[in-house]
Amino acid sequence: MASLNYPPRTTWIEVSRGALTHNLHLLRGRLAPSTQLMAVVKANAYGHGAAETARILQTAGADRFAVATLSEAVELRQAGIERPILVLGYTPAWHSELALAYAITLTVFELETAAAMHAVARDSGRRVPVHVKVNTGMNRLGVRPAEAPALLTALTALDGLSVEGIFTHFATSDEIDRSYAEAQFACFGELLDTLASVGLRPPLAHAANTAALLTMPHTHLNLVRTGIALYGLDPDREQCVLPVGFRPALAWKAIVTHVSDLKPGEAVSYGREFIASRALRAAIIPVGYADGFPRRPQTWSSVLIHGQAAPILGRVCMDQTVVDVTDIEAQTGPVAQGDEVILIGVQGAASISAEAASVRVGTNNYDIVSRILARVPRIYVA
Ligand SMILES: Cc1ncc(COP(=O)(O)O)c(C=O)c1O
Repeated sequence: MASLNYPPRTTWIEVSRGALTHNLHLLRGRLAPSTQLMAVVKANAYGHGAAETARILQTAGADRFAVATLSEAVELRQAGIERPILVLGYTPAWHSELALAYAITLTVFELETAAAMHAVARDSGRRVPVHVKVNTGMNRLGVRPAEAPALLTALTALDGLSVEGIFTHFATSDEIDRSYAEAQFACFGELLDTLASVGLRPPLAHAANTAALLTMPHTHLNLVRTGIALYGLDPDREQCVLPVGFRPALAWKAIVTHVSDLKPGEAVSYGREFIASRALRAAIIPVGYADGFPRRPQTWSSVLIHGQAAPILGRVCMDQTVVDVTDIEAQTGPVAQGDEVILIGVQGAASISAEAASVRVGTNNYDIVSRILARVPRIYVA
């Protein structure tokens, strides 16, 4: 086995600090100086490892961070992130004390929870910073625009809260036809004007995700929430591809743990679904569905060894998978224990991007990277 300095497991993620920093600077270059950049690092920073990724992005100049849950926000604070952190999802009032303790900004969209948060904050003599979420057409969380002025009026009266921001989220900004996203933005703009006319517009207003940041610059307002482009991945692999220059930050690697001969008629893995029709060389890789390498209905289909595709044989197991290296050995020589395996990344002239993997698995690149489980160690390279 080559004398590389391998991480604690025989499969690992490599995250490029340089790529994250470079991508952030490319995005920043598209924004007016007065527009803040909120780095979306929910779901373990889309699989890239939340704490270290946020530290890298903080150093690179992210103004703020966004996560999905309070526990994700607390993890960032404990990792030394000092900039404001917004929880995008619903936080119950019974988490207000924790949010206050860690100075976390919460999303609100109805009065009942907000009033309960206010009560907790007031009792401790502090204020919870909140952003109001408006539903302009995603039909997920959010107050309806027609009801937003009344909510803002009521929130302003709650001195345990400080209403710092208001935001909405696009359903289709990554599609070529942006008419629905434009209609959402027009609706949000009307609401902002209404609020401004009665002195209720919060200091921060935000709508743009990565796709809108790139293709709808008029939606930047004074804050953008960007995730996928920081990681160098396309908002949509067909309809919203990143401009030239962005670099994928993540590679998923492993080493071969064993190589064996299969005789014709021998079967591989649970259920004996694959039966060798000829003599084969089978390599074992230490990656399975409990790492985020899907078992069904569609698999990764192949990985790279010696810069060539090694097709998966039989069922993916919880921690291991068998791949066919017969044709690879015929071309490049023996495959041995310790040889590098690429699941996402580049090897020689070949590569498997997160986008390519997502086509094989029948999903999108967000899902591919964010499903890689925590037990796969993340290491940070130049
Ligand atoms: C509310 C909200 N804002 C912003 C983002 C970032 O989106 P993207 O990664 O496409 O930039 C997300 C991601 O899903 C989100 O849920």
